[in-house]
Amino acid sequence: MTPEQFVAGLPKAELHMHLEGSIEPDLFIRLARRNGVEIRWKTEEELRAAYSFEDLQDFLDLYYDGCRVLVTAQDFHDITREYLARAHADRVLHAEMFLGVQGHTTRGVPLAAVMDGVLGAMAEAEAADGISAGLIVVAQRHRTEAEALELLESLEPWYGRILGFGLGGAEVGHPPSKFSEFFRRCRALGFKVVAHAGEEGPAGYVREALEVLQVQRLDHGNACMDDAALVAELARSRIPLTMCPLSNLRLNVVPSVAAHPLKRLLDAGLCVTVNSDDPSYFGGYVNDNYLACQAALGLERAELVALARNSFEAAFITDERRAEALQAIDRWARQAEAA
Ligand code: HPA
Ligand code: ZN
Repeated sequence: MTPEQFVAGLPKAELHMHLEGSIEPDLFIRLARRNGVEIRWKTEEELRAAYSFEDLQDFLDLYYDGCRVLVTAQDFHDITREYLARAHADRVLHAEMFLGVQGHTTRGVPLAAVMDGVLGAMAEAEAADGISAGLIVVAQRHRTEAEALELLESLEPWYGRILGFGLGGAEVGHPPSKFSEFFRRCRALGFKVVAHAGEEGPAGYVREALEVLQVQRLDHGNACMDDAALVAELARSRIPLTMCPLSNLRLNVVPSVAAHPLKRLLDAGLCVTVNSDDPSYFGGYVNDNYLACQAALGLERAELVALARNSFEAAFITDERRAEALQAIDRWARQAEAA
């Protein structure tokens, strides 16, 4: 069995992806036409050629501009349904998806269109493919904490259908502590809490996310490498890191996948997971990320299994579902061994 075949059949959870970052060029053009939104690119090829970035901000400028094609509940439904179908094809059994709600409501899209579009597609995907999904609303860190608090309040009608809250967008200059009250309220309401930290920001931001925001997972977390005591603490606590190797490559967070800290952190005992971040922009879905790591870091089959197991250890699911998923991984590993 080739690594491609092994990864393709490996049951996994995806825990770090932005729904707005999963719009494939063909869907992007269809949505622009459907909504009469003027875009700079005429063809899928032109769009793909534009997906070359200097850094996070350079990417975010294009990404936020791209969000203009999302207007109706149907649009939010379609991107969610397409992502979940694509994830199912990668043998993702469970997905936790980020949604940057403020990027839409500030353009005048009704909150109900955003939320009901996404939530309806999640239910459809589960009925069709058995894939479970959770929604994590991310506050945009370039905006104020007051705006994040308004966002939280406005979502009250959907509280029962939201898994958690996170923090995304331009990192440097916007430390986690800027959102301490927002996270305190999210935790008090019983939501799961996560935050992007240490993608472009320093190890100190990773510490703040843990100590001030009390996050249950770190998104990226690469910069923890610069603080040995922090690495030891993460190994002890098993607070998961949702890492995104191809994203890090495309945004110049690492010079090559071979230089990515994923394997060093796995070896150090951290609960490291592999994810796609913004798959249509960064040239790969979750399996592409596993395979890029396998090739560049020389991962053994046992390490691919460990990464998949970590994804379910890190997922916000019931212990029963976790046990089922871990058994499915073991079954696949035995089947591959026998092949
Ligand atoms: N980092 C921060 N915010 C984001 C990203 C990312 O990689 N993708 C979409 N929003
Ligand atoms: Zn991200």
